[in-house]
Amino acid sequence: MTEFQKAQQSADFIRTIQPEAAEVGIVLGSGLGGFVDHLQDMVRISYHSIPHFPVTTVEGHSGELIFGNLNGIRIWAMSGRFHYYEAYELNETVFPLRVLKLLGVKRLVVSNAAGGLNPDFEPGDLMLVTDQIDLFPDNPLRGKDALDFGIRFPDMSGPFDTEWQELAKKRAGELGIPLHEGVYVGTKGPSLETRAEIRHFRMIGGDAVGMSTVPEVIAARQMGIKVIGFSVITNQCLPQIPKEFTHEEVVAVANRAGGKLLEILKGILQRS
Ligand code: HPA
Repeated sequence: MTEFQKAQQSADFIRTIQPEAAEVGIVLGSGLGGFVDHLQDMVRISYHSIPHFPVTTVEGHSGELIFGNLNGIRIWAMSGRFHYYEAYELNETVFPLRVLKLLGVKRLVVSNAAGGLNPDFEPGDLMLVTDQIDLFPDNPLRGKDALDFGIRFPDMSGPFDTEWQELAKKRAGELGIPLHEGVYVGTKGPSLETRAEIRHFRMIGGDAVGMSTVPEVIAARQMGIKVIGFSVITNQCLPQIPKEFTHEEVVAVANRAGGKLLEILKGILQRS
């Protein structure tokens, strides 16, 4: 069975539970699970129950697809995402997004917890992702199954929607929430960066580093979905600072900072 056929079966199953379409998808990064508390008329579907869906293993991710209403906008939220370091293939990590596309999603918010390479960033800060650098050893569009979702060589010269970014900056300003802007470097993980790698990432233009998001943005752009991305800076990622944090600490900082991101998200998902 092709990826497209599998995605169709997943979408058909989801429609039997929630027949309504939603235009917006949200990938909730570590610590941002609180977003779903703001949704009305929620329908929660465990990843386990959806045919062909991968299942999450990372702590802090519950693994549910959640449908709900925010300010009258219908949303599919992915609570729990799939990482390359968990041994998924990249086409598996983007499978849920392909299903969301079949369910009618046209705009996607991606969020993540990331280390701050920019020395001006502090733990708990937010960064609007203006561009990304792909350091993954593979690409989710490799192989012929990907051609059922879009073109072979999608343009990546501006993967993030500038109009939506302007709105996010405006709303953040109105809310008094500082919002950095910067480039997200996506690495395979799970080991953290050496000092030399941190200097390398900074030298090539990175402001934040993490282990997700990049393949999702590629897959979404191939399908013509508009994307906006936010990083919650959970730790400094500077050559002189040893990294001794645990996943729990990353989640704890993201949880604390997540409230600010929720406010911005509420602001940019208003009906215009
Ligand atoms: N490096 C890579 N991924 C991360 C980090 C980091 O410092 N912090 C949160 N995710």
